[in-house]
Formats: sequence, C-alpha cells, structure tokens
Amino acid sequence: MSASRARRCSLICPIAWSRRGVVEGMRTIDELLAERPQSEQWLARDRKTSHAVEAGGKPMRVLAVGAPKGGVGKTTTSLYLATRLAERLGGTRERSVVGLLDRDHSRHLTRLVELREELLRPGVTLIEGTALPPPDCGLEMIVIDTPPGLAAIDSLQAAQMVLVPVQLEDQGVASLVDYLDDVDMQRIAVSPQMRLLAVLPTMVDGRTLMHRQRLKDVMQIAGAQRPPLPVLPPVPRRSRIMNFDLSAVEYDAAAKELFDHACV
Ligand SMILES: Nc1ncnc2c1ncn2[C@@H]1O[C@H](COP(=O)(O)OP(=O)(O)OP(=O)(O)O)[C@@H](O)[C@H]1O
Ligand SMILES: [Mg+2]
Repeated sequence: MSASRARRCSLICPIAWSRRGVVEGMRTIDELLAERPQSEQWLARDRKTSHAVEAGGKPMRVLAVGAPKGGVGKTTTSLYLATRLAERLGGTRERSVVGLLDRDHSRHLTRLVELREELLRPGVTLIEGTALPPPDCGLEMIVIDTPPGLAAIDSLQAAQMVLVPVQLEDQGVASLVDYLDDVDMQRIAVSPQMRLLAVLPTMVDGRTLMHRQRLKDVMQIAGAQRPPLPVLPPVPRRSRIMNFDLSAVEYDAAAKELFDHACV
C-alpha cells in the first residue's frame, strides 16, 4: 500500500480513530497545537518570491481562500480575514486597502454584503465582477472567496497565497490530502508564484474528542507536506461568527499568525 493510501485509510478508519482516542482523549486542543508544523524555511522563500506585483511602491498580493469541500467556512473566513487585514494595514473609509473578490458562482459573499452593507468595514471594498483588479488600483491585498474543490483552480492559479479552511469532520479531513496534492501540482505545472500558505481548522468544538482527534490528523497531513504547512489556531464554532459579528475575537489569533507568516 502506498504511503499516501495508508494515510488516507487511517483517516477514514473509525477504529483507528477510536483507538487513538483512548490514548489521546485526555489531551486538550492547546496541547495538540503545541505540535503544529511550522515552516520557517518555506516562509523565508515565500517572502522573497510572493512580492511579484509592485504597485506604487507597495506590492498588491493575492490571497485565495480555497477548500476541497463546500460549507467549511470559506466565505466567512474571507470576510473576517479581509476585515482584520484592513485593520492591520490602516485602511479607512476614504482609503480602501483590501479588496474582496467573489469568485464563487453562488455569489453568496456578494449577496451578503449587498444585504448588510455594514459588513464592509473601513478599508475593505467588494470588487465588482470576477476579474482581478490591475496591480496599480491602490489595493494592497486581494482576498478571493472561491467555490469548493477544483472549480476554484483558476482563482488559486491567480493567487500568490492559498489558505485552506477545513472542518474537522470525516470528509473534510479525508479530502484534504488529495486537495493539497492537487494544489501543489498546479504550482509546479502552472503557477510557480502560488504557495499553499496554511490550513485553518474552522467551526471547532474543542470539547469533543472527535474534533481533537481530527485536528491531530490535520496536523499530520499538513506536517507531511514538503515543506510542512502551518496549521493556524482553530476558529471555534460560535453563533456570533455565524451572524457575522465582525468585532468577535474568534478569528484574531488565526489572522495574526497568518499575517505574521505572510509578512503582511
Ligand atoms: N466559526 C463558525 N462558527 C459558527 N458557524 C460558522 C462558523 N464559520 C462558518 N459558519 C457557518 O457555517 C456555514 C458555512 O459557512 P460558509 O458559507 O462561510 O462556508 P463556505 O465554505 O463558503 O460554503 P460554500 O461552499 O457553500 O460557499 C454558514 O452558515 C456560516 O455562517
Ligand atoms: Mg462560500
């Protein structure tokens, strides 16, 4: 059996999970997170290569939020990260620094911010249409919300950085292995500037044994990437996140770590 097939089997085998649970059931999410893969070598390389597009002295960088599965929090993550980014970059009502680009044909993000304009915080703008703006448009960062799976491939190809939200459930974790491989193949074959940036566990309930076990699986999968892929602090499942309370703190730790990693 190939190494990747064996890895996949261990992901979908409930007996393996429950056995591991006996040993690891007492460990908290924080303890598990202490073992997260970090990839300083990769980050150093990314800093050199991802500033490909220069605009007015400042690079316009493109971050795509993509995942193998639907409903894992891509749109929510795009909106929160765009908001935190604009705060970090000092955006104001008068000066937009972050553009949200809705590349999902369901237009969920577009419909959401059209219905609730207050969700576009100072410094964040929704880009009209589906094309990337020109590098001299004045925006420092574009965050692309994508459709699930490889329907997003053109968005990923256009990006320098790809963030992968994952839900700690059977299918989400099992499909992560192939997805990371596919995205990496795209980098090799089509988009040498594009990098997998990190994995972000979403809607996590740290009290459940299942989520703790699958978080460990995600860390194992991310750690097996070459170079290893960082796993960001998980975003807990909270109703205020579901209701888009953008002042909620649940994304803060992940956003800070992500932006520090990406040197934003
Ligand atoms: N941290 C969270 N806590 C609670 N609910 C969340 C959280 N993150 C996302 N949700 C909810 O989960 C659902 C799916 O989220 P979202 O629409 O962001 O996923 P998606 O990956 O963009 O889905 P799709 O593939 O359909 O575009 C939404 O109802 C959203 O409000
Ligand atoms: Mg979506």
